[in-house]
Amino acid sequence: MTINSNYDTTKKGAHANESFRFAQLSDPHLSHLKNASALDLFNKRFLGYLSWLKKRRNTHQREIAEIAIAQLKQQHIDHYVVTGDLTHIGLEDEFKQVASWLEQISTPDNLTVIPGNHDLYVNARWEHSFHHWQPYMLGDDMPQPDEALEQDALSTLNNMYPHVRIRGPVAFISLSSVFAAPWFKATGKISSAQINKLKTLLKRPELTNLCKVLLIHHPVSKNHVKARKELINQEELIEALIDTPVELILHGHAHSRFHDRLQIDEERSIPVVGAASCSSISQAQPYRAQYLIFEIRQEDKQWHLSYQDFAYDRQQGLFINSKRTAL
Ligand SMILES: [Fe+2]
Ligand SMILES: [Fe+2]
Repeated sequence: MTINSNYDTTKKGAHANESFRFAQLSDPHLSHLKNASALDLFNKRFLGYLSWLKKRRNTHQREIAEIAIAQLKQQHIDHYVVTGDLTHIGLEDEFKQVASWLEQISTPDNLTVIPGNHDLYVNARWEHSFHHWQPYMLGDDMPQPDEALEQDALSTLNNMYPHVRIRGPVAFISLSSVFAAPWFKATGKISSAQINKLKTLLKRPELTNLCKVLLIHHPVSKNHVKARKELINQEELIEALIDTPVELILHGHAHSRFHDRLQIDEERSIPVVGAASCSSISQAQPYRAQYLIFEIRQEDKQWHLSYQDFAYDRQQGLFINSKRTAL
């Protein structure tokens, strides 16, 4: 199957003067670990389990993430992206718990999910992990396989990313930054094979006139998170973007809202937006639960990008919008 070369101009959001609207949700950490067995925890997952028991099970509330979805349903969204960390320690039971939340959001065609480090806490079999979200994770040129892939999750992720999903005027380009990081670390790394494929993908002629939005779980800006949580090979990503930059980079992982520019050379930079967790109970800035709505339109062959931040107010039980920010 080939990638669509032109977006469908009859589709909502695809007309020159009409905005395409998409929502970003990140780090829901929706699942609970009540069903975890001692055998499940006989590895690095034990640390994650303790963290859930002590803190995370109170910090992340599924109810808040469900309020976000209910509000988004009223807001005419053309596409949804979830930028990783949907689970705590990547157990199969967690993947199944999260699948029902994904179904609430939208169909796989309208919802793009990328992996976070918590979803690959230790390497697992694909059929016992990401297989449960597979339709949301495939690129446009990847047909849904008839049978479950009997491979380990890390190799499968490194094979299937980067990929592209073209929706309206936007090319969503997804990367996987997850690997089975050592104990006490939540670092990210993009494999060399992915970096090489990204350089080729960005040059595809069918993407030339589209607005390219790169999705990655780990922050791409230096010093945004502590060393034990950072993207190890950020420089390689910058180098891959020098010839063909993208219009926007979105990430999660830090659990705090973030807006910056990534300098790719002396003259050019790319806007970077990081979303906070969409399920956090925290009312402290910048850690409040959040979702973002981006608007993209083209005028005089120029892309105009902006976003609006919706932050959770515990007293009102609602996500409240900020004013629109241009990118
Ligand atoms: Fe997270
Ligand atoms: Fe993360």
